[in-house]
Amino acid sequence: MFITLEGSEGCGKTTQSQALAEFLRQKGYDVLLTREPGGTAIGEQIRAILANPHNTAMQLRTEILLFQASRAQLVEEVIRPHLARKGIVVCDRYADSTLAYQGYGYRQIPIEQIRALVEFATGGLEPDLTFLLDLEVEIGLRRRAQDGAINRLDTYELDFYRRIRAGYLELAHQQPKRWVVVDATPDFDQVQAELRRVVLARLPGA
Ligand code: TYD
Repeated sequence: MFITLEGSEGCGKTTQSQALAEFLRQKGYDVLLTREPGGTAIGEQIRAILANPHNTAMQLRTEILLFQASRAQLVEEVIRPHLARKGIVVCDRYADSTLAYQGYGYRQIPIEQIRALVEFATGGLEPDLTFLLDLEVEIGLRRRAQDGAINRLDTYELDFYRRIRAGYLELAHQQPKRWVVVDATPDFDQVQAELRRVVLARLPGA
């Protein structure tokens, strides 16, 4: 089973993925927890390029391709082999992040063009289950700020994240069998309990 977690800033994806992976391991499943961009030696090098604040000249097309390069490596090197061994893969962000951020967020390149690149990068591998940890933009950015990150909360930034959130909800709407939208407003334990409930209900033999 291939599970991905998606959502905008401050939704708690990363800690929720870790707790979910740990829970499934304790149930005896062979769980691989990974993240995007990164997750492989090559992918982590690409992540460093994407995260480097000196790379201000980076073009949106370059950014999209770098995310896909990291993803292609992760799919072939890590995700497919683990699924082939009948393991569970939990991935903190995946293809839908590109559609939401580079597609709906920036709105400069038609979503269908981006979708084609994503499909090329993944070789068509789609998650079996994708959680959207949905959160009001202001709440998410405030949570992130409490974590120590810089946050100017200007209108441009707010609108960008609002488009991302709306984009995610649109993606979930398009594929309701794959997506489960979880309200990320409640406390950590409540959200985690919901993730566990959904996963257990879908695992064969659980
Ligand atoms: P990260 O430090 O992992 O933050 P988060 O906890 O929000 O996941 O940074 C990942 C950033 O990269 C995040 O802002 C989302 C962005 N991103 C894209 O824009 N497109 C993508 O395809 C992926 C995988 C991530």
